[in-house]
Amino acid sequence: MNCAHSSAKTAGVMSSTQPPIVIALDGPAASGKGTLARSIAAHYDFAHLDTGILYRGVAWIMLNDREDPEDAARAVRAAKEFSLEKIRGAAIRTPQVSAASSIVAANPGVREALLQFQRRFAETPPGEKKGAVLDGRDIGTKVCPDATVKFYVTASPEIRAQRRHEEMIAAGRETTLADVLADLKVRDERDANRDDAPMVQSEDAELLDTTSLSIEGAFAAARRVIDDVFRRRAL
Ligand code: CDP
Repeated sequence: MNCAHSSAKTAGVMSSTQPPIVIALDGPAASGKGTLARSIAAHYDFAHLDTGILYRGVAWIMLNDREDPEDAARAVRAAKEFSLEKIRGAAIRTPQVSAASSIVAANPGVREALLQFQRRFAETPPGEKKGAVLDGRDIGTKVCPDATVKFYVTASPEIRAQRRHEEMIAAGRETTLADVLADLKVRDERDANRDDAPMVQSEDAELLDTTSLSIEGAFAAARRVIDDVFRRRAL
């Protein structure tokens, strides 16, 4: 199963246990998908998984063990041994971890090792929630191709850099807007051009450009799309 909502539908019968609803959000770095995913999860009372923490987590483990993120075999081992426990409290949002995360994320063995965890989360949302919201780069294309609703969230590079810069300053990290913009561009380029599960808008995803939208505006737009799908599918 690929985080499907279609299996009960195609079977033509309504099973007593409905498959969980899955909302997929993909898009480039700092596009606002994380904030949006959290708002959606809170509003519909769904579980939320920021899948970026898995790649950041593997990257952090590598750097912490003084391993080279480019070392493919070691990265795969770190991904296979990965657990959320291992990165509890770890500083996974530093520029070093961000850069290393997109390096390990281009490794097919790493992606394969992290796939099961993501699908299990979507298919059996923790807390017995009836739906899950996952945000990342390949949720709608690879992890959950049968997701109930898909969004591709984007914004101009300048706006994304500005938002990320503000976040970092608020978190007490010294950095310049120019450095943040350069980091985002390198990461976007690597994420979009890797061979395995590249970052791309799924054909059936709703494009949400948040360049000139507030957080509330983006959420309202997403909610309209979701409510419409729920209404049409009687969910
Ligand atoms: O928060 P931000 O948008 O900056 O990045 P993130 O979502 O935390 O993801 C960090 C990195 O993990 C990305 O640059 C990707 O290389 C990788 N990633 C991925 O390949 N696939 C995902 N589903 C999620 C993240």
